[in-house]
Amino acid sequence: MNSEDIVDTARMLVTNDKGLLAMDESNPTCNKRFAKLGIPQTEETRRAYRELIITTPGLGEFISGAILYDETIHQQKKNGTPFIKAITDAGIIPGIKVDIGAKDMAGHPGEKITEGLDGLRNRLTDYSKMGARFAKWRAVIAIGKGIPSRGCIEANAQALARYAALSQEAGLVPIVEPEVLMDGGHSIDRCFEVTEEVLRMVFNQLYTQGIILEGMILKPNMVLPGLTCPPTEKVSEVAVGEQQYQVRLIDRQQEDASEVERTADATVRCLLQAVPAAVPGIAFLSGGQPCELASARLNAMNVRFKSRLPWELAFSFARAIQQPALEIWQGKEANVLAAQQALYHRAKCNWAARRGEYNTSMERK
Ligand code: 13P
Repeated sequence: MNSEDIVDTARMLVTNDKGLLAMDESNPTCNKRFAKLGIPQTEETRRAYRELIITTPGLGEFISGAILYDETIHQQKKNGTPFIKAITDAGIIPGIKVDIGAKDMAGHPGEKITEGLDGLRNRLTDYSKMGARFAKWRAVIAIGKGIPSRGCIEANAQALARYAALSQEAGLVPIVEPEVLMDGGHSIDRCFEVTEEVLRMVFNQLYTQGIILEGMILKPNMVLPGLTCPPTEKVSEVAVGEQQYQVRLIDRQQEDASEVERTADATVRCLLQAVPAAVPGIAFLSGGQPCELASARLNAMNVRFKSRLPWELAFSFARAIQQPALEIWQGKEANVLAAQQALYHRAKCNWAARRGEYNTSMERK
């Protein structure tokens, strides 16, 4: 292993305000997203969709790296050019998802453990020979009644650290993704608490396994209230004439601008508690947030904190970059150009968010 190469690649993935494009949906996940839009779920449609993504003109202006899935890394463009060559020629660093999915965890109802360590050393060597320069492993942590358990957090953190060690041994930068899910009615404070605990455990394990922190990227969730968290009520004093009244106001967390700032604040505060300064970059997953909100939240973090943080705050979105393009494409050749324009636009919005220059007028244009 040449640790200088790993450190250089990790830095390259987060420099120039670019970010990662996650296009590593497993076949079942990709098929599910196709099925919702009535797109046939075949190897050829998955290939055609991924060709649409990687041939988007100018994508490399905003995207530093693309995360592929095993099927995709072996595929070619219609003209026979291997995807991995097309990506590299576009100035984008190819990477690969190497976990084989989150499975039910024995003895821990409602919790998952990510698998894929068996045979990983050989798979990493093969991917490296094919031209991949980084790898990704996703652990999933659910919040609910009595969960996450320490057992689940510890087992997932240890698997992430073992994967990271094997990746660095093979000369690949590990993207370490412990995702605290948005599902549930929990508050933003609970998300903060769980995310902090998970990140502390992950870095504890990464340290124990001797990971070169300068040669990795962290891919966490943002700190957000659960999807079904009820809106909080604020009680305000209102004066009418001489009379003071107490008014209960519903704070619609998903809508108001101060919510964006609150989540940006909470996320950065949480990361500062748990992520060592040696890590070059933090590239968020989008986790099912609406595209524009994901950009706005990343933007708010960079506007408020960029100059004061030890690491770059970047993105590694799948849905929050791809979704509009997929909806436009609908599996039809005639829609490819329009879909590529939508993809380019979202990549540009997130690049702007890294610079603290994103605003909603970009969407209207
Ligand atoms: P989302 O941005 O859609 O959450 O996907 C990111 C990812 O890579 C999940 O592993």
